[in-house]
Amino acid sequence: MEESCIDTQTADRAGRLLDIEDRWGAHNYHPLDVVIERAAGSWVYSVDGDCYLDCLSAYSAVNQGHCNPRILQALQEQASKVTLTSRAFRNDQLPLFCKELAALCGKEIVLPMNTGAEAVETALKAARRWGYMRKGIPADRAEIVVCENNFHGRTTTIVGFSSDEDSREGFGPFTPGFKVIPYGDAAALEAVVTQNTCAFLVEPIQCEAGILIPPDGYLTRAAEICRANNVLLLADEIQTGLGRTGKLFACDHENVKPDIYILGKALSGGFYPVSAVVSQKDVLGVFSPGSHGSTYGGNPLGCAVARTALQVLLDENLAGRSAELGAWFLSELQRIEHPDIKEIRGRGLLAGIELRVPARSYCERLKKLGMLCKETHDLVIRIAPPLIVEREELAWAAGRVRAAFAA
Ligand SMILES: Cc1ncc(COP(=O)(O)O)c(C=O)c1O
Repeated sequence: MEESCIDTQTADRAGRLLDIEDRWGAHNYHPLDVVIERAAGSWVYSVDGDCYLDCLSAYSAVNQGHCNPRILQALQEQASKVTLTSRAFRNDQLPLFCKELAALCGKEIVLPMNTGAEAVETALKAARRWGYMRKGIPADRAEIVVCENNFHGRTTTIVGFSSDEDSREGFGPFTPGFKVIPYGDAAALEAVVTQNTCAFLVEPIQCEAGILIPPDGYLTRAAEICRANNVLLLADEIQTGLGRTGKLFACDHENVKPDIYILGKALSGGFYPVSAVVSQKDVLGVFSPGSHGSTYGGNPLGCAVARTALQVLLDENLAGRSAELGAWFLSELQRIEHPDIKEIRGRGLLAGIELRVPARSYCERLKKLGMLCKETHDLVIRIAPPLIVEREELAWAAGRVRAAFAA
């Protein structure tokens, strides 16, 4: 265990930590080489003493800002009382979390899980069971429609219906029962639906695919098609939900109420993995004791954290801030002209700069300029700061982006 003796307090601490991580960690990510040891609000601080404006927000998990003091306090208070009971017993936070989240979503019941992928799996299981129990689909014939370029997580079932070969390669055989259609194409949905279709799973904006915003009216039309064919509409709002796009949910931009909301990430403001599926009794009621669960799902620590994270979103009107600041920031970005830029698009504080060249080198350049962004789908720089970001910080960020393209 030679590495454990390394004095990480000495110079080049970052380099040494990178070496340790490379040696001891699996290489399933390609991070920017910045080693963060501290964060507050919209800023992160590296072991080298550098500070950066966080323009990824942990893929929109940190909408409430890093180490949000109210959420931190809730975490600390709850951690000193009880953290985990399992669902073998009840706890005093779960009922209130379910009630508050259901009310926020305008739905009847909540099924808490931990990660986003688990919540997606939960929604898929609910939809299939609903298909058999309520819609009368013959056993093992249920079909779920999904979109090309989707990103719903990393389980074997979920990557099985991904159209991204890097996500799938070497992980088969995959779960059958999924049909893939082009994103943003309501006619394709209408054409593919059969009597055995139980659900349509969709991201209101495809974030990992490169901030792809579907045509206006797409979600409305998809909801109509689902309703007409007795198909559940499952909205994966794990990344777009909870204020990121300038509304509480991205579906709200078209006043669409999906049958199931799938939530995660900012549900806990970055403190703790909390995800949830929120729907009607008729849908989530298909689960009976023993048919689904998770040791940590609905634990009191996660529920206390999530309750406060939601309260912060509401009290600080983070969706409103996202709408207002995001519109202004986008217009600032759109003034930047450069031959490498193909399009700059966004909604709320979720912006994508689509390039004609790989985005990675620009993310490296922005890092040198004090701004942390991550490329998505090779050609797109995603800019998604915490929703508590100040206008002056965004003005500074727009200047940095301008400088990166001027360099
Ligand atoms: C839209 C969407 N769905 C699902 C997931 C998976 O969430 P997790 O990484 O917490 O499993 C993500 C994560 O980026 C996501 O963006």
